[in-house]
Amino acid sequence: MSFKITDGVKWVGKIDWELRTFHGEELSTHRGTSYNSYLIQDEKTVLIDTSWKPFAKEFIENLKKEIDLKEIDYIVANHGEVDHSGALPDLMKEIPNTPIYCTKNGVKSLKGQYHQDWNFVEVKTGDKLDLGSKELTFIEARMLHWPDSMFCYLSEDNILFSNDAFGQHYASEQMYNDLVDECELYQEAMKYYANIVNPFSKLVEKKINEILELKLPVNIICPSHGIIWRDSPLQIVETYMEWAKDYQEDQITLIYDTMWEGTKRTAEAITEGIHEADNNTTVKLINSAKTDKSDIITEVFKSKAILVGSPTINKGILYSIAGILELIKGAGFKNKKATAFGRYGWSGESTDIITEELKDAGFEVVLEGFKELWHPDEEGLQKAREFGKEFCKNL
Ligand code: FEO
Repeated sequence: MSFKITDGVKWVGKIDWELRTFHGEELSTHRGTSYNSYLIQDEKTVLIDTSWKPFAKEFIENLKKEIDLKEIDYIVANHGEVDHSGALPDLMKEIPNTPIYCTKNGVKSLKGQYHQDWNFVEVKTGDKLDLGSKELTFIEARMLHWPDSMFCYLSEDNILFSNDAFGQHYASEQMYNDLVDECELYQEAMKYYANIVNPFSKLVEKKINEILELKLPVNIICPSHGIIWRDSPLQIVETYMEWAKDYQEDQITLIYDTMWEGTKRTAEAITEGIHEADNNTTVKLINSAKTDKSDIITEVFKSKAILVGSPTINKGILYSIAGILELIKGAGFKNKKATAFGRYGWSGESTDIITEELKDAGFEVVLEGFKELWHPDEEGLQKAREFGKEFCKNL
């Protein structure tokens, strides 16, 4: 499969309908993904990025249907991660001397992964590559999301090739934002941002401002995963600016795990208390042992506050809560409030452990955690409801 984007620019990537996890098992991809590669044919021919290694042979066979590989004058590696560079080793066997344009960190990353001394050409922001009637301008995008990340911009067609930025893990044969379900598209774009880009939000704001200051007209944004933004493409840039500014909605999320349902009943009662205190705010209750972890991170991204609960087990907390707290810490959330809750039978460490983890993750703990013995009776549930109300007052 390939398709024309403009005269002289084609998509030559791979749609991966089956992918359900990414970065090993770290990130869920319920709707698959695509590895977008682009072929620019002007007086000079450029290939931008490739595909993930399992699709290397298929990618190269498809590319041969578009062009004699020897006609590729330049390769641009916007990012060295294997989902974009994985076909390079096979491709470079066919065209070994073709220059690969990438950042200085891109050279390190590609050499570090493939141990090949390919014909690298280091570029930095503002460097240009003359293609004949069009010109490619390179824009370093360090830490969005790797040190080597880079965008490039094609004049005349006014296309920004943004690599991972503005992407989504979303497989669709309708590759444009005006053709797919907008709700699904934004769900996936937000999940991608919350789980992958959020730790670098300060850099997102800076980089977008830097690009806007260049005053380049942008007609199309071609990311390296998912859907191409051609209908009002700057909508996703503006949305990224909102997401980058410590984004939150009017939502409180409770995340808990439970052994014999004591902490679960407590979570439900706290939820009732929050709802009684403020029935405008969306309250979501999530069992971390039964819910996809990447979806939980997206819910935390949307929340103004979270409550995390676990019973005490072996002087610690349940495994799924420990895991989600680690992911929450890595996501680098800012300006969110929190507290902890949990039940116990004898030693009772869980609430204090969760509280410390939340502080470590950058959350403002606005109320001392709710910690109660054994299983709640009606009086115990009422206490939990009151705790929910008190938490609301502290927001
Ligand atoms: Fe899509 Fe950072 O790789």
